[in-house]
Amino acid sequence: MKPEYCTPVKLAVFCLVALLAACGVEEPAGDPMEAGQERWLRYCASCHGAEGEGRPPSFPPVAGSEWLELPSEALALIVLRGLRGEIEVKGEKYRGFMPPMRHMSDEDIALSVAWMEETWGDREATLQARDIAELRDRVMGDRQPMEGLDGVTSALEQLENQGPETNRP
Ligand code: HEC
Repeated sequence: MKPEYCTPVKLAVFCLVALLAACGVEEPAGDPMEAGQERWLRYCASCHGAEGEGRPPSFPPVAGSEWLELPSEALALIVLRGLRGEIEVKGEKYRGFMPPMRHMSDEDIALSVAWMEETWGDREATLQARDIAELRDRVMGDRQPMEGLDGVTSALEQLENQGPETNRP
């Protein structure tokens, strides 16, 4: 007959091993937040400001923007596809044009979206470079910038309806 204490002891050992394994996971080189800020300053700050404050009335702020409550994919889509038409940010109307920024690498887009989310959206970033690559693939044919918030919402719906597989040729 096995002694009773065996199970908790095994459990404790298992937990310890799992914990050690988790600690051993390598952090990617460099601080991702620092890299994110660097991308923000390089690619986005010229219009949206270094502090995300925007330049009204032409360029909307991102700091404090309700757009940061949209799913991460929506934010990545704005960068990949661009945005135009009338939108509202923090109670102000904007009618500008953000050009698509497909020249940015997957990693640069992931890092700048992550920077926005973690700095001004107060939430954990979830998209990795590989997610951007997949998204880029799936919106390859969509050459027109999205039209306002409705455009973003329907682009998201379209992605969901397609499912990850069906778009593959
Ligand atoms: C050339 C100027 C320009 C650059 C560069 C630019 N944007 Fe924009 N962005 C705009 C404009 C203009 C709008 C509003 C478009 C409209 O009025 O329909 C906008 C809208 C947005 C929005 C939604 C509205 C808001 O303010 O919350 C987000 C999010 C955003 N941009 C993120 C980014 C990110 C991330 C980058 C860098 C990768 C970036 N933008 C680079 C001009 C720019």
